[in-house]
Amino acid sequence: MMQHSSKIFSLLFFAIILSWGIPSRAQITIKIDTKNISLIFFAEQDGKLQQGYFGKKLSDRDVTNIRLTGYDAFPSFGTTYINEAALRVVHGDGNTSTELVYQEHHSDTLTDGTVQTEIRLKDMVYPFFISLFFKVYPEDDMLRQWTEISHSEKESVILYDYASSHLFFNESAYFLTQFYGSWGDEMNMTEVRLTRGQKVLDSKLGVRVNEHAHASFFLSLNHPAMETTGEVVGGTFAWPGNWKLLFDVDEKEHLHVITGINSYAGQLTLKKNSVITTPALLFTWSDQGTGQISRNFHRWARKYGIYRGDRDRYTLLNNWEATYFDFNQEILTGIIRDASEMGFELFLLDDGWFGDKYPRNSDNAGLGDWMVNPRKLPDGLGYLVREAEKNGIKFGIWLEPEMVNPESELYKKHPDWVIGQPNRPIHLKRNQLNLDLSNPKVQEHVFNVIDKTMSENPGIAYIKWDCNRFVTNGGSYYLKPEYQSHLWTEYVYGLYDVLEKVREKYPEVSMMVCSGGGGRIDYGTMPYFDEFWISDNTDALSRIFIQWGTTQFYPAMALASHVSVVPNHTTGRITPLKFRFDVAMSAKLGMDLQPADMTENEKAFSKNAIREYDKIRKIVQFGDLYRLLSPYTSERTSMMYVSEDRSEAVVFSYLLEKNIQGNTQSLVLNGLDPDAMYQLTEINKDPKTYSWFTPLEGKVFSGDFLMKYGLRFTMYNQFDSKIILLKAQ
Ligand code: GLA
Repeated sequence: MMQHSSKIFSLLFFAIILSWGIPSRAQITIKIDTKNISLIFFAEQDGKLQQGYFGKKLSDRDVTNIRLTGYDAFPSFGTTYINEAALRVVHGDGNTSTELVYQEHHSDTLTDGTVQTEIRLKDMVYPFFISLFFKVYPEDDMLRQWTEISHSEKESVILYDYASSHLFFNESAYFLTQFYGSWGDEMNMTEVRLTRGQKVLDSKLGVRVNEHAHASFFLSLNHPAMETTGEVVGGTFAWPGNWKLLFDVDEKEHLHVITGINSYAGQLTLKKNSVITTPALLFTWSDQGTGQISRNFHRWARKYGIYRGDRDRYTLLNNWEATYFDFNQEILTGIIRDASEMGFELFLLDDGWFGDKYPRNSDNAGLGDWMVNPRKLPDGLGYLVREAEKNGIKFGIWLEPEMVNPESELYKKHPDWVIGQPNRPIHLKRNQLNLDLSNPKVQEHVFNVIDKTMSENPGIAYIKWDCNRFVTNGGSYYLKPEYQSHLWTEYVYGLYDVLEKVREKYPEVSMMVCSGGGGRIDYGTMPYFDEFWISDNTDALSRIFIQWGTTQFYPAMALASHVSVVPNHTTGRITPLKFRFDVAMSAKLGMDLQPADMTENEKAFSKNAIREYDKIRKIVQFGDLYRLLSPYTSERTSMMYVSEDRSEAVVFSYLLEKNIQGNTQSLVLNGLDPDAMYQLTEINKDPKTYSWFTPLEGKVFSGDFLMKYGLRFTMYNQFDSKIILLKAQ
């Protein structure tokens, strides 16, 4: 660790700045390693910090051979800026430039085996500091990068841009995969080649920020991304508020990737001696394609990224698509009985159970009034909890505590608790408004909604936490006029505070995050939640695509996937019940339909499917995912999970189009133990299509053979599906 005085730096800086472009001898090397990755920085004699390398792990011996780039590791809007700045501030005296120089760095090994490095930079004149933080999870090849900004200038500093990370690449070509969508159509993927200039992926929605785009990306180096080969970086920004991923190809075809909070309309006033810690970019690198990126994320997420990632999730039946708002105690009691009879482990009561003066019988009233509607549920929630208990299953409840309908007692009492601007009409989405979580009173209220519901109805095992609108008219009646632009960040801090308190008091309750489907899927939120609802679209064909996109970054154990009725309520599509189950069973199985409307055959099939899921749920939820055939490029799609010890695997295969000659695409498996002998069994059989698999049933093949020749069987009909279990002998 070396300490330098900023005076020496000032002199050296002006001497050396003239010779930029000519690599100077590195003075201090900062090497950040995981098992397979190195990220290397150099602090030069002029005090400038540069990123020297990012990619496959380098030996310490070779580090001195790295040629410096001349680009700042964390570019600030300074006197010599040419590229996009990761940091842009106006100092207390009005100076708009910042010149960062290295001060010191240190690395600490934390008790959980992670290693955290802090590189401290300072403005060469002003007492203004920024630390670059890197936490690595060595075994999982994951890196977490964020910044901490502080100062002791006399006057407040205004932060206009305050990114979390800047990464630099010097390759022949860059291919960006982005993830986008809208309600009912989340997590589509598309790849573009980055050309000169900027490509920005972002959200300014404030809340429910993933409704139109997800803060995740693949960056494939030199050629388009491939599943099993090639150099790829995968990243995702861990923050449920406004975010921005900026990709800037400069005049020398270098790529600068800047990620952080979207500072659009969100400048922050930083008072003397206060500190801002930015959210983190999580990223990993692989030279074995996007498949390895996903597996790195999944393994890491189960250990660090989602709440209790080491625990099995409940299978559940949700009454949303079964009843919508139209139910009563008797109907629900019937559903609970049927859910238990079919073999589900939990019943989840959705929207519509609350509101007295303004009953929640549609989405236009009642939100905010979290007392039971006595006309629907005369014996209260407690009765239903007990009914579930009697039937041997758990009970879960839907809440949307951050929101309010104007038609509610809450709004009439506290009209100033909502997000909005004075002198402007209120602007509704789904007939509702966001509560202003920057306000501590509102935070307390939101916590109390959970606390009251839970403590008055002991036995509730599960909460579905919904959030059905984004922010428009973004003003706070709580924040002072000069702090209005803090609303976007203060909202998220408020939300985090509430979630912390909820988790402290209710560590055992399972929680699903939902946001009109997948509007809030990020690793800032997931440490508090066991699982998420990725889409209101439960159509199995749509789900194949949505789940394909989502599992690029998020593990199947956290992805709730429900069987629903046909014609599907969103798409009108009709698909076989087996297909619907086979898609849901590739993630965390659930159901969203009225069992009373099923035929006896359908009930029997479902009961069997739920039993069959037990045979594979551990492999799906805790195994490694290998994608075999993509729905984007193939009429047959397939993927598989392999248990960590490679003794078991499960293969899913779906035919998306009818093929009158029969689709014979082979499924070349992956991730198996080449020396192990695996026996094949079909799961969730359907007598109608089972015959096509019969020749393979019970057969034993080596892992080596299955990973070279593959698994070959013909599929004919649109929406045929197969689940094949492999067990090492
Ligand atoms: C959102 C959710 C649905 C359901 C409804 C209830 O749209 O995504 O699953 O809970 O709210 O209003």
